[in-house]
Amino acid sequence: MHKKKYLFNSSLKDLNTFGIDVTAKKIIVVKTIKSLIKIVQYCKLSHIPYLILGEGSNVLFLENYIGIVIVNRIKGIKIIEQNKFWILHVFSGEKWHSLVKYSLNLNIFGLENLALIPGRIGSAAIQNIGAYGKEFKDVCLYVDVLSLKDNDIKRINANLCQFSYRNSIFKHQFHDYIILAVGIKLSKKWNPTIFPLLKNYVNFKEITAHKIFNIICKIRMNKLPDPKKFGNAGSFFKNPIITKKQAFKLTSLYDVPYYPQKNGLIKISGGWLIQHYQFKNIQIGDAAIHETQKLILINKKNATSKEVITLAKIIHMCILKKFNIFLEPEIDFIGSIGKIDPLDIFY
Ligand code: FAD
Ligand code: EPU
Repeated sequence: MHKKKYLFNSSLKDLNTFGIDVTAKKIIVVKTIKSLIKIVQYCKLSHIPYLILGEGSNVLFLENYIGIVIVNRIKGIKIIEQNKFWILHVFSGEKWHSLVKYSLNLNIFGLENLALIPGRIGSAAIQNIGAYGKEFKDVCLYVDVLSLKDNDIKRINANLCQFSYRNSIFKHQFHDYIILAVGIKLSKKWNPTIFPLLKNYVNFKEITAHKIFNIICKIRMNKLPDPKKFGNAGSFFKNPIITKKQAFKLTSLYDVPYYPQKNGLIKISGGWLIQHYQFKNIQIGDAAIHETQKLILINKKNATSKEVITLAKIIHMCILKKFNIFLEPEIDFIGSIGKIDPLDIFY
């Protein structure tokens, strides 16, 4: 697919990890900022909808897309050495996991806990990706964006990005922006980020970044579905964040894992709730719940987005009814002209 620069009325099946077979009026692969600006300007002037796509690992296409899908393959990594830090300036079309491997091979540590997360750099910032005790925000120095209001390139310092759990300013406020590159700051003095499962694998005295990388790859390969086998977009739902009062009520009734947050709220395990609802082999068409990680919905073969949505709605409603907990989708729903609020689909 990437050999050709333009494709017309083509399937997006290979461009979304859920493997949903819908089409786009036009698909364009961009490799330079200059061509990206040209295409976006053309879309804006001609009132053609456009969608920037990284790896398609956090989206559910609901129907055929009637505009232009711009596949971001703007690449490049620059490394700047400072006294105590490494600064990595990375363009938004680079693969996240390739960056993790690349930095480790140069003995630049700090990204190992975020190994094997699919997707490209741009979405890592938007989504504030996270796993095993680390989030993108912990290493982010700045995000370079193209503002579509004035076609200007701006640098937004990390402290202004409003990063929080699977959220950033780019999700709710800065809609007219395209992420071009990010700056990542890693200390030369490495401190391991410890997570509870780690003790099952390694003696803390012998810990290295490479060991953490290997352990995390192993854990993830055992637990998460490989999109090549079963289409999926990672966790379909977020882990719910609730008040202390709600958490007290819930944990006095159920043994659900919970994690106090810095802001006084409590994050609870959505996967546990789905597992303990005990949906008995529930499957809608080819859409199902992943066996070893219940927050993940999978496409067993040829699932349609309708089937995935029907299953998601059932889960959402059942969890609400049984536990009085509101499961919010984590992924972006994409309609014929752009993003759709999941709640408009659910209710
Ligand atoms: P896409 O799906 O291509 O895009 C996501 C959204 O961002 C879309 O709305 C798109 O329009 C927009 N977008 C993309 N690039 C740009 C840009 N440059 N500028 C503006 N808008 C843009 N996530 C985690 O946080 N932790 C995990 O552990 C994790 N595990 C996963 C495991 C599996 C098996 C899978 C399939 C997914 C997992 N995810 C995880 C989710 C996913 O990998 C991340 O959200 C990832 O950052 C998405 O990247 P992408 O390039 O595929 O984004
Ligand atoms: N659990 C269950 N049943 C399940 C899933 C989880 O009981 O089906 C309970 C278990 O007690 C388990 C605990 O929840 O020990 C935590 O599970 P896990 O480590 O799998 O993490 P998670 O909270 O379910 C989150 C992220 C993942 C990320 C992992 C690892 C969200 C929505 N998901 O899942 O990210 O990889 O932590 O840190 O926060 C994604 O965002 O797409 C994603 C896969």
